[in-house]
Amino acid sequence: VSSESSSRAITLDLKNFVMTPATRKREVRLSELKDYFSDPEAADKILSSGRDPVVYEYYEYVVEESAGHLSLGLTIIYPGKVGKEYFMTRGHFHLKPAAEFYYGIRGRGMLLIQSEDGRVEYVELRPGVIGYVPPGWGHRTINTGRAMFVFFFAYPSDAGHDYGIVKEKGFAKIVIEEKGRPKVVDNPKYTSSTI
Ligand code: F6R
Ligand code: ZN
Repeated sequence: VSSESSSRAITLDLKNFVMTPATRKREVRLSELKDYFSDPEAADKILSSGRDPVVYEYYEYVVEESAGHLSLGLTIIYPGKVGKEYFMTRGHFHLKPAAEFYYGIRGRGMLLIQSEDGRVEYVELRPGVIGYVPPGWGHRTINTGRAMFVFFFAYPSDAGHDYGIVKEKGFAKIVIEEKGRPKVVDNPKYTSSTI
């Protein structure tokens, strides 16, 4: 398969954090994410003050959603917290056992991964650090710093995304701020040992 678009140069503007070209750009606001946080009442408090901040946004360039291709993208997670829990992505599993990597560009964050049987591991991401998601592991990223957390990602285009499991059960661990520092703790709402 060859097409003109697949040979086009893709540019990451590392000053303004824009990726061009992109086939998709999405902004996710707090109102959409409320129930993913361990303290939705804290989210309600922010929302009822009339604010609905963008928690994260991402660009994606999908050449073709078929086997053999890669999808590339740039995610920006803004600094902030809901209660004690840091701003984060929804998180998902891939429908196919497809790996993914994240390359830290700016700020500080964490990549939390969880196996299908509920084991959790995490890696701290900062500029120049690569986080690896093995095939079959769910993943979420968290901004644990006070500035924007920005990373580049790539994964097989035909991986697919399953958001349902995380929406229903969350991850076994959450990342909170304690005494001014990030801490990975058990998710009080996580009930099942297997997902
Ligand atoms: C793609 C991937 C990331 C996320 C992005 C937003 O497979 O893992 O690019 O899509 O960081 O997070 P989600 O998709 O969980 O809202
Ligand atoms: Zn993914």
